[in-house]
Amino acid sequence: MNERRTLSPQAEPEEVVLDRALRPQRLNDLIGQDRVRENLRILIEAAKGRNEALEHVLFYGPPGLGKTTLAHIIAREMGASLRITAGPSIERAGDLAAILSNLHEREVLFIDECHRLGKAVEEILYPAMEDFALDLIIGQGPGARSVRLSLPHFTVVGATTRLALLSAPLRTRFGAVHRLDFYDQAALQEIVQRAAVALEVPVTPEGRAEIARRGRGTPRVALRVLRRVRDYAQVRGDGVVTGDIAGEALALLEIDHEGLDDLDRRVLHAIIGKFDGGPVGLDTIAASIGEASDTIMDVVEPYLLQLGFLDRTPRGRMATRLAYEHLGLADERQHQARLFDDVSSDE
Ligand SMILES: Nc1ncnc2c1ncn2[C@@H]1O[C@H](COP(=O)(O)OP(=O)(O)OP(=O)(O)O)[C@@H](O)[C@H]1O
Ligand SMILES: [Mg+2]
Repeated sequence: MNERRTLSPQAEPEEVVLDRALRPQRLNDLIGQDRVRENLRILIEAAKGRNEALEHVLFYGPPGLGKTTLAHIIAREMGASLRITAGPSIERAGDLAAILSNLHEREVLFIDECHRLGKAVEEILYPAMEDFALDLIIGQGPGARSVRLSLPHFTVVGATTRLALLSAPLRTRFGAVHRLDFYDQAALQEIVQRAAVALEVPVTPEGRAEIARRGRGTPRVALRVLRRVRDYAQVRGDGVVTGDIAGEALALLEIDHEGLDDLDRRVLHAIIGKFDGGPVGLDTIAASIGEASDTIMDVVEPYLLQLGFLDRTPRGRMATRLAYEHLGLADERQHQARLFDDVSSDE
């Protein structure tokens, strides 16, 4: 369960350094996410024109699509410094109060996984974001009183993979909320190309297309696949990443033509084989294959939904016709459909 997945959109520790090296620095360097980029451009130019701090911005979407990258870009475009923290690492209200009271005017505070902030911590954040004020309680018991300190005008950039888990009061304090979508093939190809140049890996157009096709619409995954394919080209070929070399390397990694890996396929096989194609709840699927439901929810499900392999119904997830076809189980589905017809006509 803990083996590393080539296709996991979550960053491996050694990738953090590489992520940094390959990360686009300015809005103009950002590939894909056109809608988000143009909205940010306007937001930033307007704030700069008025000589104000940028409004608070929230990014949500599956891992590896560029939330952290965008936080860095925003700070740079605003000419401000960036402070990085994350929901789970702010344990007590006092921790956040300390961070806030050390901020400078216009500074950008990046809060990753902001759906995991504790309630007491969030309550400090509300007035800070809305009124740039920090409410402190001094003393205890009947003699306790509250004092309000004013804070510099700063900007919160929040990131979350789970918008649904964000509390409503927190969500409403962001002036702009942007969903990051999976990248299309053209954008992924360009990202792969740019990284190949930076890493000095020779890649043919076919090689690049193959990597982009199986990159799960996710820059982090495509970049990792590029590195694995580069290794393969070096050891089994002459170092050039061609379409054939990429195909062989990916087959060896058990990544199929749609970019599904073993875990994705196990999820689909479980829905189809154990639960007759669904509907079935995510937790039940997770338990049946011994994986964490968080992984399935954050990583597996969004991509399968995107491919149209999965349907979300009020009663749970269902495998679609496309999923059966992809797994070569189309006959199985007809069989199940017939059984279902028989049952319904009995009624
Ligand atoms: N638009 C893009 N163009 C080029 N590279 C990108 C782009 N978006 C992301 N990347 C690259 O993808 C990698 C992952 O991006 P990033 O760390 O910003 O993702 P994330 O959304 O913060 O992920 P997580 O949810 O895991 O924190 C980085 O190496 C970054 O360089
Ligand atoms: Mg991140």
